[in-house]
Parts: sequence; structure tokens; C-alpha cells
Amino acid sequence: MKKIYWNAFEMNCVGHINHGLWKIPGNKRINYKNLNYWTELAKTLEKGKFDSLFLADVVGVYDVYKGGFDTSVKEAVQIPANDPLIPISAMAHVTTNLCFAVTFSTSYEPPYSFARRMSTLDHLTEGRMAWNIVTSHLDSADKNFEIKHLLTHDEKYDLADEYLDVCYKLWEESWEDDAVSIEKNMYYADPTKVHKINHKGKYFDVIGPHLCEPSPQRTPVIYQAGMSERGRDFAAKNAECIFLGGKTIDDITYIINDISERALTFGRSLKNIKMFMGLCIVTGLTDEEINSKVDLYKSFWSLEGNMAHYCGGQGIDLSKYSQDDNINGFAVGEIVNTLNRIDGKWFKVIIGKPKEVADQIQHIIEQTNIDGFNLVQYHSPDTFEDFIKYIVPELQNRGLYQKDYSPGTYREKLFNLKHKYRYNKSQGVNSSRF
Ligand SMILES: Cc1cc2nc3c(=O)[nH]c(=O)nc-3n(C[C@H](O)[C@H](O)[C@H](O)COP(=O)(O)O)c2cc1C
Repeated sequence: MKKIYWNAFEMNCVGHINHGLWKIPGNKRINYKNLNYWTELAKTLEKGKFDSLFLADVVGVYDVYKGGFDTSVKEAVQIPANDPLIPISAMAHVTTNLCFAVTFSTSYEPPYSFARRMSTLDHLTEGRMAWNIVTSHLDSADKNFEIKHLLTHDEKYDLADEYLDVCYKLWEESWEDDAVSIEKNMYYADPTKVHKINHKGKYFDVIGPHLCEPSPQRTPVIYQAGMSERGRDFAAKNAECIFLGGKTIDDITYIINDISERALTFGRSLKNIKMFMGLCIVTGLTDEEINSKVDLYKSFWSLEGNMAHYCGGQGIDLSKYSQDDNINGFAVGEIVNTLNRIDGKWFKVIIGKPKEVADQIQHIIEQTNIDGFNLVQYHSPDTFEDFIKYIVPELQNRGLYQKDYSPGTYREKLFNLKHKYRYNKSQGVNSSRF
């Protein structure tokens, strides 16, 4: 049986996906601004043998619903939101195997400084970093940066292509493997082995050299999240891991097949690409325990918060429509109904006792051939602690969850690959991942 990968899905904020639940007494989400929150989380996840912590991020506010950001601010819908990169070194310090996948958009900050931050983290984590590439969809984010001419959706992907190109050159071509020669004790690095990259492109001119010496992975593991035609092509060409949208077996199967076909046309081997889907779980040992959790979540659920999130993401202000109106073939009333359910929104939701949950997970894996899951929270830390206590042993018995970590960097853990990168200039793809 193939290995299944498990990521804890997080964001450096109060309200990530399931809005309103930060108000539950004992929910530690409001401690997101304390380092202790992150180090305790990391220790819990490593004890539970999670593969990685996956951090989402946005750099704008959800300000479409009711024509402004008031609802988002009141309900803490991804605002306040701190920088996701900064707690990682502290989490790395209290763990040895847990890996970190961090979302960073190619649309706003230039690649030179970002490549440096990732190299720094790849050094400090000893090769446990991944970058989830997004191009971002919030108009409000575009307005926060000095983008004089706003880019269209597809232009953002053109820019992302070049962004990644620059990063590859900095990470892979600037410093030769044996440039640093401290063993020889004569000089720190050999200048003939540290190269400028001399990149001149449509969006960026970057001369180099890269400021960091080669980190354990050089290039962090490349994740991608973005499901349009261009997004799927970008993923098929570049990504080693892909975070898919979709919640039904049919949706997920369709997307996996579609991206797989695209990847094959780019000459890549499917064994070098792992597909992940989002998953929410509510569990307990008895029906009473499960029902009381469901009732608790329902009682704190914020329809307003979920509306603000949905409308911001879609760029549609549902407050302007009546329940009977139709948008893109969906009745507004139906959308609102879905947003009002704790099992309704974007990701697959499983509610049940451990064996029932594991049965459903196994069914999803068998039907879709998915490689891994991003586990979404309702409550911090209960969601992950319940999962580790109740579901992990069931999954381990079925071979669907690792019993121990394999050694090495994130890329080695995922693909059993000793990293050796070969950048294929003519194809613009990373041929080591073929
Ligand atoms: C499952 C999933 C998760 C995503 N998470 C984020 C995120 O955390 N931050 C973000 O800015 N965009 C996120 N995105 C969206 C990306 O911004 C994407 O680049 C944007 O939607 C435009 O690409 P697309 O039209 O190809 O989907 C996510 C998309 C998907 C499918």
C-alpha cells in the first residue's frame, strides 16, 4: 500500500476556515500571537507523527461582504493575520522531523528577498521546508502593494512562472556544491564557485549572487494551490505536492486525472507528484461525545463570518441578493444554507466514531487515489488531539498513517529522493522531478 501523507492545516490568525469557533471557551486560537502556541502545536503534531504543518496565508482583507471589512474584523476572518514564516524557526527548534509547508504568493514581494528567507528557513529547519505557491485572488491584497498596473488572473501566472525561474536560479545555480571550503581553512567560500545569475526578464531583473550558501534542500519542496486552467498547468509543470480544491469523490477524482494528464504532457513522472485534499473531522468514542461536539460547534458557528470569507474569496457581495436569486447556477439561499452548516463549506467533512471515520478515509483513498490530507481545525487543540488519540491508531492499523518518521529532508521523506536538482532551461521545468 502506498504511503499516505498527513498535514495539519493552520494559519497564523484567529479565524482560518471554520468561523466563529474561536469564541468557544478553551479554544486556544486567540493565542496565535504567542510563540508558545506554535511550539506546543509543533510538539503535539510531531508526537502524533504528522508529516507536516501546512500554513495558509493571505495579504489582504476580505472586504466584499456588505461592502467593507467590518464583518471580517468583528468575526476575525483571517484578520488579524500574522506572518506565517516567522514562527517556523521556533517550531523547528522543538521538533526534529515535522516539516513545514508555508504559503507565499508570487504576486507581491519580489523573489530575491523571498528566496533568501526560504533558504534561511531551510538551513534552520535542516531541510524541512516546503513552499506552497499561490498567485492570490483578493483584490484587496493587490491594493496593498505597489502594483501600478494590476495584473489579470493569467498574467499573475506568467509572473509566477518567471518568479519561480528566478528562485530556481538563485537556489540551484548561484552557489556550487563545493563553493564553501571551510574544511580547507583558507577562505570561507571560493569566489570562482559563487555565480551571478544575471536574470533579465519581463517582470524581474536579478543579478545575484544568492546571499545564502546552499541549504540542505536548496529548493524547498514545491507545493501549489490554484485550480483554474492556468493554475493546474502551473501545478502540473512545477509542483511536487498539490493542494486540491474540491470535497466530493467525483470532484477530486476529476482534478487528479486532469492534473495527471497535464503532468504527463510536461514529461513528468506521476510518482514524483503528491496530491492533497482538505479534510474536516469531528470524532469521539461515543455518539453522545460526538453529538455534544457538533452541538458546541453549531452553537458558536458564525454565518456572518463564513459569509464574509466566501464573498471575499468569490468577489461577490451576497448581502445584495435575495435568497431566491441565482448566481452561476446556484440559488443564493442554497449557498447561504451551505455556509451555515458546520459540514458544508469547502472541504470533505467526516463526523463519526474512529472506525467509521477511518472507513470513510480509506474509501476516499481507494476511490480517488489521493496521496494525502490537510486536516482542517474546528478547535485548537482539540481537533488535532482528537485525531491523534482516536483516528491515528485506526489509520496506522490499516497502513494509512506512518508509525514513525523516515529520515532526511522533507523531499527525502516524501519521495525517498536524495536531492539532486537539474534545471532544464529549455523546458523551464525542474527535471530532477521527472
Ligand atoms: C485548496 C486551496 C487553498 C488555497 N489557499 C490559499 C491561501 O492560503 N492563500 C492564498 O492567497 N490563496 C490560496 N488559494 C488560492 C490561490 O490564491 C490561487 O492562486 C488563486 O485562487 C488563483 O488561482 P486559481 O484561479 O488558479 O485558483 C488556495 C487555493 C486552493 C485551491
